[in-house]
Formats: sequence, C-alpha cells, structure tokens
Amino acid sequence: MLKVIDTTIRDAQQSLFATRLKTNDMLPILEKMDDIGFYGMESWGGATFDACIRYLNEDPWERLRKIKRNLKKTRVVMLLRGKNLVGYRHYSDSVVENFVKRSYENGVDVFRIFDALNDVENLKVAVKTARAVGAEVHGDVVYTLSPIHTVDHFIDVAKRVAEMDVDAIRIKDMAGLLAPRVAYDIVRGIKKETGLPVALHCHYTCGLASLSYIKGIDAGAEFIDTALFPFAFGASQPAIETIYEALRGTGLLAHLNLELINDAADYFEGIRDRYKGYSSEATERIDPRALRHQIPGGMLSNLVLQLKEYNALSKMASVLAEVPVVRRDLGYPPLVTPMSQIVGTQSVMNILTGKRYSVLIKELENYVRGHYGKPPGQISRELLEKVQPGLPPTLPSMEDIPKAAWEHFKKDEDALTYLLFPQLALQFFKGEIKLTQIEETENRRKEVKWFRIKVNGEEIEVRIEGEE
Ligand code: CO
Repeated sequence: MLKVIDTTIRDAQQSLFATRLKTNDMLPILEKMDDIGFYGMESWGGATFDACIRYLNEDPWERLRKIKRNLKKTRVVMLLRGKNLVGYRHYSDSVVENFVKRSYENGVDVFRIFDALNDVENLKVAVKTARAVGAEVHGDVVYTLSPIHTVDHFIDVAKRVAEMDVDAIRIKDMAGLLAPRVAYDIVRGIKKETGLPVALHCHYTCGLASLSYIKGIDAGAEFIDTALFPFAFGASQPAIETIYEALRGTGLLAHLNLELINDAADYFEGIRDRYKGYSSEATERIDPRALRHQIPGGMLSNLVLQLKEYNALSKMASVLAEVPVVRRDLGYPPLVTPMSQIVGTQSVMNILTGKRYSVLIKELENYVRGHYGKPPGQISRELLEKVQPGLPPTLPSMEDIPKAAWEHFKKDEDALTYLLFPQLALQFFKGEIKLTQIEETENRRKEVKWFRIKVNGEEIEVRIEGEE
C-alpha cells in the first residue's frame, strides 16, 4: 500500500494561487476528503500562517482547529521550516519548542521539518520537541542540483536526519528538478542505509514529478504527495487522479476511494475560478529550462526587478552568468529562500560594481560566518578571508515580547503569532488588516509572493522562490 498525503489545501494552493485559499472554502469538503483514504492532508504551515493573517484576515490557529475538527480519520500534516518555523528567520530554541507544542495541541499530527541548507543542527530542536509531544515526524532532505549534490550526498544527509529519530525521511524537491533514475537511486540508498520509510515530495515545475514518483515507488518509496487535479500540476504536485491511473493494476492505491476523489475534485474545480487571479504564467506553465540554467523562475523575476531598480536591465546576461559563480563560492546552497535572495543580490552587486565581492551584502557575510547554518559544500577561500568575524544576530525569544503587546493577546498562541510577525500581528489583533479584493487581479499579481528584505540598510522587494 502506498501512503498518499494530499497537499491541496497547503502546498498546492500556495504554489498555484499565492496561498490565498480561504478556510471557508476548505471546510465544506473536508468531511468528504476524510473518507478518501489519504494517509494525511498537508493543511498547515509553510506560508499559510503568514498569508492567513496578511491577506485573509484569518487567525491561523483557528484555521488549524477547524481543519482538525473535520478530519477524524486523516492525519493533519504541517510543514515546518526548521528553526525558521513558519517565518523567514531563525528563532530561539524556546520559541521553537513552544511553537511545536502549540501546533500539536491545536491539531497537527505529522510534522514535516526541513532546513534550506540541509543542516541537521537546524532541525534538532523541532524534531526533538515533536517527538516528545508524541507527534509523527518526517525529516526532510532538500533536493537540488550541483556538482556536490550527488546521490551519495543526499543519502549521507538522510543518514544524519535518521540519527535524530524520525519516522520517515522525505525527499523534498521543491523546484521539480529530481530526475526519475536519480529518485530511484536516492530512495533505494536511503532505505538501505537508514531502514526508514521514504516519502517523495516533487513539484511538477519541470514536468518530471510523475515520472520520478513512479521510479521512486519502484524503488520502494512508501509515501507520495499529490493534489486533487484542479490544484495540481504546474508549480504544484502531480494530480492524484493521474497517479491513480498510472498505478492501476499494482494494487498500491486500491485503498483510495476514486468516487470521493472525483467528488472532491469537482468541488475544487468549482471554486478554482475565484482564485485564478493569483496564478501566473510562472506558476501554471511547465518549464524545463530551470534544469538547464538552474535558476528558479521566481529568482529570475527577482533579478529583473533588482536590475530595473538600478536601471541596468542590459546587464541581465552578465548577472545570469554570475549566479552560478556566487553559488559555487558559497558552497552550492540550494537556491531557495533565503539563499536565492542572497545569491541573487550579491550577483547583482558583483556585476554593478564591476569587481566581484568589492561590496559584500550583510546577509552574505552572515552566511559566510555560519549564522544560517553549515553550508552544503566549501565556501571559497577568498570569501572566508574577506569576511570579518561578527557576532550572530540575536534570536527572538518569548522574553522579547514587550508588555504593551500582551494586552492584545486573547490566547497563549497569540504570543507566538506576535513573535513571528510583530507588526502584522498587532495590526491583525487590532482589526486593522485591510482585505484586498480578489478581483484586482493585476495588482494582486504584482504583489504575489513578494516581500521586503533589508540589504545593507536599504529595503528592497524580493520574491520568495521555492518557498515552502
Ligand atoms: Co512543496
């Protein structure tokens, strides 16, 4: 039997519709989906926490409780960004512990935990806490392409993840780069070396995901992630309907109720139009070019934006050639948040100044100092020599919450919401979040998945790519 985790209301809607799916549009179908036979439904975490408050004026904790109430047989699965939790920076251990406990209490059954750099140290507190409260834990191995990211490299990462006592290892291919034969080799290697069940999570981005699932299943993968077809393909996961047919005759999915799958798909087909305005060519199209230049689509648009700001779009070709150089010099980090922003911005700097690394952005210096974790490969000698030692940034902890903020909290979880997104949370608690009209599609499109980061004291907008 193959265990299927449905991603429709988390990863799929995040990947295709900018995380805008409202709780009220999920609830009516959950009872039916509960009877399909899915092992779990990924329904919380990733960017949904932020998006609930920022765009939907919804309390994410309330959403979690409502989902849990409707799923009696199907596990509630969440995606946790390791030390980043559901935010964009590292938090102190006490915050991580507190967050995991509260998530469990509010309904999460399965935690899937990853670190963008595959630094196992960044997973430890979350994994340990989730184990301690009695949750099921899947530890992630983030997949990317580079000269050092060999099959053996990923098996080695999996072995270190397995040492933390997890229930399964998940191969997380957020850019859709995993090739079928490689999937086969990695799944087989991980199973052999760790003895743990292996889960496959592929995005359809380059068109490989279904093929890689089939080969990975041949190699013994126990779990796959799929979405109902109206929310599948493109930047999302393969459709369960397709995989169901692809595996017909194997008996592997005989436990799923196809009739209910079709009913649920009809439901999502019916609400899909409301969210169409949040999709774009980049999310809908299958584009294998990422396999060639290895620069994710969203990072490309980010580079265009940055160059436009400097009135230097003509330098795009040089910047594109610079990205692999900077990535190599940083030890080949996967190009996902926050690394896609750091590598991209430094590449732009290198080209605009005309001299590589004559100006270093602060985030790159912090990365070189090890403040983001251990890089997958070696950082270049030049950068190691150039970057002066510096103190790690202080991590937010519960004690940092100002007294004035507490009076806005109605429940204990609100303190965590505040720590994760202080300004936004206060606006939310005070009822000051402005609901934007879904109909304003063009403006929405421009805003989708962009957020602001500080680069050397200057705020710039960047697009979150390969965000999970
Ligand atoms: Co994903």
